[in-house]
Amino acid sequence: MLTGELVRLRPVEPEDADAFYRWHNDEDVMRWLQSYFHESLAAVRKRFADRSDNSYEKVTFCIETLEEQGRLIGVVVLRDADPVNARAQVDIYLGEKEYWGGGYGTDALRTACRYGFDTMRLHSIELTVVEANERAVKSYKKIGFQVDGRLREAFFRDGEWHDELLMCVLRDELR
Ligand SMILES: CC(C)(COP(=O)(O)OP(=O)(O)OC[C@H]1O[C@@H](n2cnc3c(N)ncnc32)[C@H](O)[C@@H]1OP(=O)(O)O)[C@@H](O)C(=O)NCCC(=O)NCCS
Repeated sequence: MLTGELVRLRPVEPEDADAFYRWHNDEDVMRWLQSYFHESLAAVRKRFADRSDNSYEKVTFCIETLEEQGRLIGVVVLRDADPVNARAQVDIYLGEKEYWGGGYGTDALRTACRYGFDTMRLHSIELTVVEANERAVKSYKKIGFQVDGRLREAFFRDGEWHDELLMCVLRDELR
């Protein structure tokens, strides 16, 4: 279990499946996330029951609030870790919308990156984000991510193309 200022990160449990199913069916939550096909609740429950353990290649953490006896509000994943170059990718979202803008996601990302740098001994962590997702871009910049590249018209939503930003934080840059 990892603790930040507002959140705690813990491994995923099979019982979390229903919350994820609800989030994946919420258009607001999924607006800037890649999602092509809807899964049935049964499929999500099966996926969660069969889930492999966390490993160097993929570490998935549920995000829980420190208050309210630990409410599940989102997920953060460190994946595709490359031991030679000490790099990994990170994905994050809060599925409980009332927590957006409250600093919970930023705190969770900082805590996950701190784990990546201090425990996994990573040197850099990267992500891609749709440029129009202003809150996310601001959140990532706040903790030290910088824009390293632009993927032009890489994301299609509601009839429009959007650019994606490639953002990266190095070990000594995390704030
Ligand atoms: C993106 C996300 C993880 C950010 O976490 P968060 O805890 O909500 O972010 P914060 O509350 O720290 O807000 C970050 C900044 O955005 C600003 N902000 C808040 N709401 C905003 C809005 N609607 N539009 C633009 N900026 C906004 C805040 O002012 C804050 O900057 P400040 O602290 O300097 O004032 C979270 O909002 C989320 O999961 N959103 C939905 C799913 C998603 O977009 N995931 C990311 C996919 S790459």
